[in-house]
Amino acid sequence: RENSTVSITVVGASGDLAKKKIFPALFALYYEDCLPEHFTIFGYARSKMTDAELRSMVSRTLTCRIDKRENCSEKMEQFLGRCFYHSGQYDSEENFAELDKKLKEHESGRLSNRLFYLSIPPNIFMDAVKCASKSASSSNGWTRVIVEKPFGQDSESSAALTQGLKQYLVEDQIFRIDHYLGKELVENLSVLRFSNLVFEPLWSRQYIRNVQLIFSEDFGTEGRGGYFDNYGIIRDIMQNHLLQILALFAMETPVSLDAEDIRNEKVKVLRSMKPLQLEDIVIGQYKSHTKGGITYPAYTDDMTVPRDSRTPTFAAAALFVDNARWDGVPFLMKAGKALHTRRTEIRVQFRHVPGNLYRSFGTDLDRATNELVIRVQPDEAIYLKINNKIPGLGMRLDRSHLNLLYATRYSKEIPDAYERLLLDAIEGERRLFIRSDELEAAWALFTPLLKELEEKSISPELYPYGSRGPVGAHYLAAKYKVQWGDLS
Ligand code: BG6
Repeated sequence: RENSTVSITVVGASGDLAKKKIFPALFALYYEDCLPEHFTIFGYARSKMTDAELRSMVSRTLTCRIDKRENCSEKMEQFLGRCFYHSGQYDSEENFAELDKKLKEHESGRLSNRLFYLSIPPNIFMDAVKCASKSASSSNGWTRVIVEKPFGQDSESSAALTQGLKQYLVEDQIFRIDHYLGKELVENLSVLRFSNLVFEPLWSRQYIRNVQLIFSEDFGTEGRGGYFDNYGIIRDIMQNHLLQILALFAMETPVSLDAEDIRNEKVKVLRSMKPLQLEDIVIGQYKSHTKGGITYPAYTDDMTVPRDSRTPTFAAAALFVDNARWDGVPFLMKAGKALHTRRTEIRVQFRHVPGNLYRSFGTDLDRATNELVIRVQPDEAIYLKINNKIPGLGMRLDRSHLNLLYATRYSKEIPDAYERLLLDAIEGERRLFIRSDELEAAWALFTPLLKELEEKSISPELYPYGSRGPVGAHYLAAKYKVQWGDLS
């Protein structure tokens, strides 16, 4: 609005996330005319930097999808003109008060709305929240804080963080980001299910045999070993990204599309789940592997990782939602680094057609069931595997794909998840952010298992860099009469 401004302060402006994701996403929003008329961006970090240096850093690391557009550089100049820098300590109220002063100058008496994006390590997080809220929150508009994971390491530390945040902010001001919720195909999940009659009635134990959530990366922890070793793949990917997808997938129909209605249903799913059992998890860690004359390092070759680390870089797990809709349906998760491919998928395997007339004309029955695949990335797609007659005079069946490949169907580029989420935070839309009770329920599911793994010092199964992961994952699936869809 005419008389209001939005100031976005990126706390931790010289960090990786800020450079790779936050600034490019802000620029993309600017380019698409999605930012309010009066906005200012401030970078805040400890290092000494001038406004000009921040601008040159931002322009150098512009990795967003806009950088190939025609008038990108012109728009970039305009955008950079709205970016400023303030150097300060994260635990200094005084430094934040200086920032406040600068923000006020830019706001020039207009209604001030302030968004702080905390892109800093967990150990300095509370200090920054305290100082920002005490010394730099808006006096007449809204103040919101986006926080990045990790939100604690287990139930206790997460609860302590939640309590800590509550001293300075109310729940409505806190935007806990899980960037997977901002991915186009994850957002589309509810559209696919709730607005298609061919799917909605099938969405239960009656027709679905199992659901698979698969995250794989074809690179290791390169450069991030120090952070990663304190968390491991279960905390880094499963407890948040994959579990959030599961909750969205399995929830009951929300009363409306309102954020609270959706989050109410998600939290019910999480609270209906049984805590994970040790026998329902397989953990792995990548080891060095030589291929085509190139030697790929082991996880423990990373200088920032202890040589004897048992931190899992891979995990497969079977989870169960203990309610009327999903009783007995395994939700299998698999997440790993340094695997053979980079891909995130949701796979839904349907049951057999009872008394299938064509049983004897196809291959084995297991392969002949329908499977819906939602490929979140890369090459976003939704495809449905169906049985089909091979054209000709004989009667032979094979499996074909009904395929919706986004790149072919839509000419519009898919925005980065951070663009969607930043825009939502500016607009006060909370649907894609994690509420504190969801977070609590998510930790309750994983904490006993994480403790047991650590107390019993369970060793991960080693798998070669670039492989398909530990064979234990196959046995886990087989225990529930499931085959991983991505390997069949
Ligand atoms: C982050 C994890 O949350 O997600 C990283 O900490 C992981 O380990 C990343 O690499 C994957 O995100 P994306 O969007 O690149 O799939």
